[in-house]
Amino acid sequence: MKRLAILLLLTAPMVVFAWPWSQDMMNQPSIKPQEGTQTPFPKRSVPYSIPYGGELTQVANREEAKELENPIPVNDKSLKKGKQLFKIYCGACHGLLGKADKSSPIAEKIGAIPLIGDYVQKDLTEGWIWGTITYGSYVMPAYGDPTGNADGKGSNDLSVDERWHVVNYLRNQLVADANGGAAVTATAQASTDAASAVN
Ligand code: HEC
Repeated sequence: MKRLAILLLLTAPMVVFAWPWSQDMMNQPSIKPQEGTQTPFPKRSVPYSIPYGGELTQVANREEAKELENPIPVNDKSLKKGKQLFKIYCGACHGLLGKADKSSPIAEKIGAIPLIGDYVQKDLTEGWIWGTITYGSYVMPAYGDPTGNADGKGSNDLSVDERWHVVNYLRNQLVADANGGAAVTATAQASTDAASAVN
C-alpha cells in the first residue's frame, strides 16, 4: 500500500504535464523565434546609437569603425562627460592632458603617444579613435570589447556613447586644456573636479 502511494506520488506530475492544457499556451498564432522570414531594414536606414532610439552600431573591429559618423553632438554636457572619463580612463597612460608627460608615470615606458599632436587631432578619423577606444590598439587595451585586442584582455568599461563623449572631448577641448592647463595646479584641478562632480 505504501509502495503504491509512493508510485502514485511520483507518476502524478507526469500525467498532469501530459494533459493537453500543459501545451496550449505555446500553440498560438504569434510568430516564434527563428520562424518565418525576417523583415529587412528599410532602405537607406542607418544604424544609430541608443539614446536616439536605434540599434547598437555594429562594427567588428577598428578598421570597420573608421568611417563611423559621430552621433553625439559636441556640447557642454558631452565635453564635461568626456573630460571626466578621459581623466579616469586615458590619463593614466597618455597623461592627464594628453601630453604623454610626467603626469603619467608610465607613458614613456609603454610608448603611449601624445594625443594633442596633428596625428590624433587631424589625421585620424573620429571613427578610428572611437574604434581604438573600443577595440584597443597594439599595446593599448580595449574599453568596449571584453574579448580585447591581440592579447585577449579587454573590458567594456565604457558604453558606446561614453566612448563618443571621450572622442568629443579629445577632438574639441583637450588641446585647449593642454595649452592652458600648465598653470592649473593639481589641487586647483581637483577642487574644480569635485565642484563639477556635484553639479
Ligand atoms: C594602458 C595604457 C593606455 C590607456 C589607459 C589608454 N591608452 Fe591610448 N595608447 C596607449 C599606447 C601604448 C598607444 C600607442 C601604441 C598603440 O597604438 O597601442 C596608444 C595609442 C592611442 C591612440 C593612437 C591610435 C593609433 O591609431 O595610432 C589613440 C587615439 C589613443 N591611444 C587614445 C586613447 C584614449 C582616448 C584613451 C582613453 C579612453 C586611451 N588611449 C587609453 C596606451 C593607453
